Amino acid sequence: MKNSSESLSQTVKVRRETAGDAKAVFAVNRHAFDGDVEAKLVDRLRELGEPTISLVAELDGRIVGHILFSRVTVGSGQDSRNAMALGPMAVVPELQRRRIGSKLVETGVEACRERGENVVFVLGHPKYYPRFGFQPAGPKGLHFHSTEFDPYFFVKELEAGALAGMCGMVRYHTVFDEPQTDE
Ligand SMILES: CC(C)(COP(=O)(O)OP(=O)(O)OC[C@H]1O[C@@H](n2cnc3c(N)ncnc32)[C@H](O)[C@@H]1OP(=O)(O)O)[C@@H](O)C(=O)NCCC(=O)NCCS
Repeated sequence: MKNSSESLSQTVKVRRETAGDAKAVFAVNRHAFDGDVEAKLVDRLRELGEPTISLVAELDGRIVGHILFSRVTVGSGQDSRNAMALGPMAVVPELQRRRIGSKLVETGVEACRERGENVVFVLGHPKYYPRFGFQPAGPKGLHFHSTEFDPYFFVKELEAGALAGMCGMVRYHTVFDEPQTDE
């Protein structure tokens, strides 16, 4: 399975989302999450023209995966700093566990770096994100909402020393707090 996964992920092309991809991106998120919540969140951020990085994974002309990075603010007041946060990300159920997600994370983190970003957060599964170099954020004094989320909250430094002096609450765009109803 490992070899076929590797060859599939090599065939998959990861590229920037372009105009016209929105419907396919919505469908990928809806299928992967088995509901519309994350799909609507992605639509809302796009509508608001938020400075996100949105990438799609394409296989034989079909969009089979998606990853989004959005702007977050760390800390408060005049010491607050900007960073990026990964999520949501999704791969269609029938092609999961074939390294498409890994390719999306790696390409997305590189796109953040190319844009001059130096810190990326993610709220997600503790077994998945550390393999890409994400480390627990809580012990570094960086939290999402409350310490309750510490086991799932990770950070990756894209440039040595970028986390120096960065601490406090990490706030996502308010759209993440809006109820996105699942119809
Ligand atoms: C999470 C997700 C994007 C990963 O994509 P993928 O193409 O399956 O990932 P990869 O093939 O690169 O990596 C597979 C690994 O991810 C792990 N994994 C997959 N889905 C996971 C999940 N929901 N939680 C934890 N780990 C998961 C598997 O254990 C696997 O590890 P292994 O190969 O060592 O067993 C995909 O499974 C998905 O769309 N899940 C549903 C939506 C979701 O939960 N998104 C993430 C939260 S924003």
